[in-house]
Amino acid sequence: MPTSKIAPSILASDFARLGDEARAAEEAGADYLHIDVMDGHFVPNITLGPSIVEACRRSTNLPLDVHLMIAFPERYLADFKTAGADHITIHAEATQHHHRALQTIKSGGLKAGLAVNPLTPLHIFEEALPLIDLALIMSVNPGFGGQTFIEGSLDRITRLKHLCSRLNPDCEIEVDGGVSISNVQSIVRAGADVVIAGSAIYNGNGSVSENVKRFREQMV
Ligand code: DX5
Ligand code: ZN
Repeated sequence: MPTSKIAPSILASDFARLGDEARAAEEAGADYLHIDVMDGHFVPNITLGPSIVEACRRSTNLPLDVHLMIAFPERYLADFKTAGADHITIHAEATQHHHRALQTIKSGGLKAGLAVNPLTPLHIFEEALPLIDLALIMSVNPGFGGQTFIEGSLDRITRLKHLCSRLNPDCEIEVDGGVSISNVQSIVRAGADVVIAGSAIYNGNGSVSENVKRFREQMV
């Protein structure tokens, strides 16, 4: 089984030291830097925008994995591409125009992702998988870091893995929300290719390097 990837979520970092926090993820050997964009409409919270993506771009060479939790994501794709995003993931629930949005992302030379909330049926992936590079399973309700992993997500990861094997084996399954040292092994064994973690990586219990190392030890 290929090694799964780790994407620290900058949302849990100290924004007063944004550049250092982004560099710490790279120095720790992380694979992607995950950036959570929230608009106060699609989700209740407001977080980051293109200027923060641009600041991360100047701070690290890690691929920037931008997760748009915003309504009408198609309106902002060009701004995030200009800011330096490498991956852009939109939510299935946030637009009626998935195909157009995903094609716009891909035609700009970026990797395109589609995310689903915890109760959104997986069948959209039957149609979307041939078009996408990343399939993101939300394992909490989107909007906030530090929530508890929803156990039913494990079965969804496995079902999505079967769909990927059939329709697009190169597509990476990302799992986002409530990922911790204690559950990351079961998440990877269920089929996750990329684990996204905020509060389990950026916290007072250890440095980013120590936390990434602890994750790697469990991801077998
Ligand atoms: C939640 C975000 C997540 C969040 C994860 O809506 O999409 O990426 O940063 O945070 P933790 O790992 O603390 O659950
Ligand atoms: Zn996210």
